[in-house]
Amino acid sequence: MEWGMANRLAQLIQPDGHALFLPVDHGYFQGPTRKLEEPGKTVKPLLPYADALFITRGVLRSSIDPAKTKPVILRVSGGSSVVGKDLANEGITTSMEEAIRLNVSAVGISIFVGTDYEKESLLNLAKLVDEGERYGIPVMAVTAVGRELEKRDARYLALASRIAAELGARVVKTYWCENFEKVSQGCPVPVVMAGGPRVDTELEVFEFVYDGMQKGAIGVNLGRNIWQNDFPVAMIKALRAIIHQKATPKEAHEIFSNAKNSKGS
Ligand code: 5RP
Repeated sequence: MEWGMANRLAQLIQPDGHALFLPVDHGYFQGPTRKLEEPGKTVKPLLPYADALFITRGVLRSSIDPAKTKPVILRVSGGSSVVGKDLANEGITTSMEEAIRLNVSAVGISIFVGTDYEKESLLNLAKLVDEGERYGIPVMAVTAVGRELEKRDARYLALASRIAAELGARVVKTYWCENFEKVSQGCPVPVVMAGGPRVDTELEVFEFVYDGMQKGAIGVNLGRNIWQNDFPVAMIKALRAIIHQKATPKEAHEIFSNAKNSKGS
C-alpha cells in the first residue's frame, strides 16, 4: 500500500486496530434531523471522543473549525431525499479534487444493493475507488438500506459488504445484525457498524456494539444513538470504552451512568 493511503487509513483506524467514527451526514437526504439542526453545536462536545467525522462538505465548511477538528470522512454521494421518489437514486456529489482541497482522510459513498439503482450505485463506487486510489484516498462504502430497515440481516448485509469490498472499498460501513460474524468473515476489509434509528435503551446499544466487536467489526460509524441521546457525551464516552478499552456492556453502562451525572454530558 502506498504511503499516502496507509497514512490516511492510520488517521482513521487507531493503533489498536479499532475506530469510532461519528457520522453527522444525515442532513444530506433528510434535512435538519432532530438534534442535528445545528451540527456545529452537536459535534463540538463529542469531537474529543471521536476518531473521525463522517460529514458533507457543506456542513464541514460551515460548521466545523478547521483548526480544531478530527480526521474527516467526506460524504460524497447524494442527490435524492426522503421526500423524493427513490432514496437509492444517488450520484456522486463532490469531486476528488474538492476532497483533496478539504484535506480529508477518506471519502464515503452509499451503495444500494438489490434496488432499481443497484448498478448505478455500484459503478459510482467503482469509479470513486479508481479516483481515490489515484490520489491515495481511501473509500468507505456504506451499505445503505434506505427505508427498508428489515434488510438488516446477515444474508443481505454480508452480500452487500462483500460486493463493496470486491469493488475496492478500503472500509465498509454496514449495520449490526444477528450472526454478525457472517458479515465480517465474508468481508476482506475492515467493517464498521452504523446504529440506525435510536433504540429504546442505552444498554441495547452497548450490547449490539460489543457483540459486533466480538464478531469481527473494527468499530462503529454511529450517529443517532449518540447525539439523539439526552446525554450524548456520556454515550460516546461509554462507546469509546467498548471500542478502545474492551469494556463489556455492563461496564459501559456504568461509565454512561457516572458520566451522565457529570457536568457537560
Ligand atoms: C446516513 C449514514 C449515516 O452515516 C449512518 O447511517 C450512521 O448513522 P446512524 O448510526 O445514525 O444510523 O450513512 O446515510
